[in-house]
Amino acid sequence: MNQSAHQGNQSVVVLGTQWGDEGKGKIVDLLAAEADIVVRYQGGHNAGHTLIVNGEKLVLHLVPSGILQPNARNLIGNGVVISPSALKQELAGLESRGIETRGRLGIAPNCAVIMPYHEALDRVREVARGSQAIGTTGRGIGPAYEDKIARRGLCLGDLLDGNRLQATLEPVMDYHNFVLSEYFQDKALDISRVRDEALQLGAYLQEYLSDVTNELHQARSEGKKILFEGAQGTLLDIDHGTYPFVTSSNTTVGGACTGTGIAPCDIDYVLGITKAYTTRVGAGPFPTELHDEVGQHIGERGKEFGATTGRARRCGWLDSIALARAVKLNGITGLCVTKLDVLDQLEEVKICVGYELHGERIAGYPADRDQWSDIQPVYETFPGWQHDTRGIKSRAELPANARSYLTSMEELIGAPIHILSTGPERDEGTVLVNPFG
Ligand code: GDP
Ligand code: IMO
Ligand code: MG
Repeated sequence: MNQSAHQGNQSVVVLGTQWGDEGKGKIVDLLAAEADIVVRYQGGHNAGHTLIVNGEKLVLHLVPSGILQPNARNLIGNGVVISPSALKQELAGLESRGIETRGRLGIAPNCAVIMPYHEALDRVREVARGSQAIGTTGRGIGPAYEDKIARRGLCLGDLLDGNRLQATLEPVMDYHNFVLSEYFQDKALDISRVRDEALQLGAYLQEYLSDVTNELHQARSEGKKILFEGAQGTLLDIDHGTYPFVTSSNTTVGGACTGTGIAPCDIDYVLGITKAYTTRVGAGPFPTELHDEVGQHIGERGKEFGATTGRARRCGWLDSIALARAVKLNGITGLCVTKLDVLDQLEEVKICVGYELHGERIAGYPADRDQWSDIQPVYETFPGWQHDTRGIKSRAELPANARSYLTSMEELIGAPIHILSTGPERDEGTVLVNPFG
């Protein structure tokens, strides 16, 4: 992987370095002005990516955030799990706003499908977990990825033919209906109803299906620019996140390869997005979480409510230890810092610079997940800037204290800031180093 921001990068990955909602949608929309292709590679409609252009807000869940840029082709790679009904609804919503998707969106036929029984399983499992619930988005993401890995799942292509669908659906539904009714004492689902609905949705989506992997190889060989849009964030990664309080896909950079079929050596640049603080939605460890009025202030000023479920996001200080890990895990070339403006009114701001476990400083990121819940953060405190930074377009125009906060971030995290975002609108902020070179 190429670690330097040199001229002429062709493939740029944009991913979250925290627990999601870092502002990926805004930045992908911005960079898509220059991209030929924008491609999603993992996750599903658990994602909620917000775009605000000229005061108009659009939240995307499955459709890539390049859809507002007229010249970008949008693709959904094989690593994404697709709920055909949710996708149909999203496409209809876009169409009703005058945003054309036909001919502009291609979907890999080998995407795993989220079926109604996956949503049912997600729901009853969360209830059964009680106080240990993950706080999932309830979209059936985990159960759908499980079926894929267990080699019994359906892919989009299976929805195109009744016989082909029946052959896979019947045994898998027998199995899940048994689990739903016998283990969870819940309702079994009607196979013929599920099948008929799936066939209708398959017919609706058929025109979007495309060999996404081939499109990407072709684009690369023609020198086109490709933007890979991550969903969720590094700390929600199934392997490297705060397991079991994670999502069920690889949110780290490798997901861009397995989820589309491009090779690691064909990634030229990785943009890691981080808020100027931290948020998390759902359960699980969060060492720098604030339970006081500062946390509440950040939540209110940052409008920290989930773009998918509307749940209040938990808020806390920036965690440079977790971010330094994210830089290594993803080979991050440059950082994009979002929501600096949210901290404008604070008298002081803090960054976590180390962890203590049972009163002793530990080295870096905990290797054993058991340690996560007992970690105490060690902070460095910085004076606030108490000055309005919303919409500021250059680093030099920022108040001195905001500038030194950003410099400290770079030093502690170990990566340079290439993009700065100072408001939710597309043009609020500045691209200091263009990821495409
Ligand atoms: P994503 O899932 O990573 O795309 O992020 P979300 O869209 O779920 O959440 C990010 C939220 O922050 C959205 O409401 C954005 O409109 C908003 N946002 C993005 N960048 C900025 C920024 O620099 N300042 C402020 N105040 N809001 C921002
Ligand atoms: P974007 O792409 C924030 C969280 C859920 C839960 C955990 C598992 O908008 O950043 P799941 O439904 O995936 O099985 O839930 O992951 N989660 C997200 N948190 N942003 C997201 O996406 C998320 N997608 C899932 O809250 O804690
Ligand atoms: Mg989001």
